Formats: sequence, structure tokens, C-alpha cells
Amino acid sequence: MRKVVKMGPTTLGAALEREHHEIDEWIEGFDSDRLDDRERVESLRRAIGALRRHIYLEEEFLFPPMEADLAIPTMVMLREHGEIWRRLDAIEATLDGDGSEDSLTPACRELLVLLAAHNGKEEPIFYGAADATLSAAENAELKELIDSGRMPEGWVCRQAGVGC
Ligand SMILES: [Fe+2]
Ligand SMILES: [Fe+2]
Repeated sequence: MRKVVKMGPTTLGAALEREHHEIDEWIEGFDSDRLDDRERVESLRRAIGALRRHIYLEEEFLFPPMEADLAIPTMVMLREHGEIWRRLDAIEATLDGDGSEDSLTPACRELLVLLAAHNGKEEPIFYGAADATLSAAENAELKELIDSGRMPEGWVCRQAGVGC
């Protein structure tokens, strides 16, 4: 019998895009009537953790080699990361008991709208060119980090504090 080997995405762009979809699904899980209350909160917390780490990987490893050629788009991405990051802080504060749970469903929907706009630019502009722009070593390092990397404790995105 042939052994079925489950393959991951073959390109860096595809691996990052897959993270976008997973994160969206976990945020949507908070609104799902197929999950109980505990599972809904777990799904949202998983999304928050994955999204913060995703932003960390982009700002520390993906954008720097691409920034020289994509200065303006990078500025836009960083500004949007800051906005997303602050939304995550607010959602997390509510989950931790600081605020009304009623605000979470609209907050999640707004976050999904922000992400759709952000990802819709990031995927064609950055992910489409990532494999051609990053060196083989940078590409391999980032792929490995997507599989197993952790965001350092206390790391915040570059524009987390902007606009407060
Ligand atoms: Fe991003
Ligand atoms: Fe992204």
C-alpha cells in the first residue's frame, strides 16, 4: 500500500497565505454555533497568538529584505499591523475580563474586515515576490520559523504604539 505523505505548502508565499486562512478561520470560530463557549474563546485566543506571531515573522524576517524595493507598501503594511495589533490588545483585554463580552462579536467582525483589506494587498505585493527576493538562506529560515518559530516574550510590532 502506498504511504500518503502530507505535503506542506511548497513556497514561502503559499505558507504565509495558509496562515492568513487559518487565522481567519479561528477568528470566525468565535462566531460559530458549532462550538461551545469554551471552544469559541479558545479559537479566538489561538487566532490572536497566531496573528501576533505572523506579524512578528513578517516584520522581522519577511519585510527587511524586501523593504528597499517596496518602501511605500512596507510603510502601509507596518501602519496596518499597528492598527491590527491595537485591536488584538483590546480584544484580549475583553477576554481577560476588562470589558463587555457583547463587544467581542463586532470586534471580531471588524478585525476580519481589516485583515481582508490588509491580506488582499500583502499577498500579491509581498508574498508573490517573496521567493524571488529573499536569498535561499533567508527563505529556508523563514519557512522553518513558520513551522516552529516562537515570538519572543514581550515583542510588539513596530507601530503598536502609534495612533494611541
Ligand atoms: Fe501583514
Ligand atoms: Fe500576512
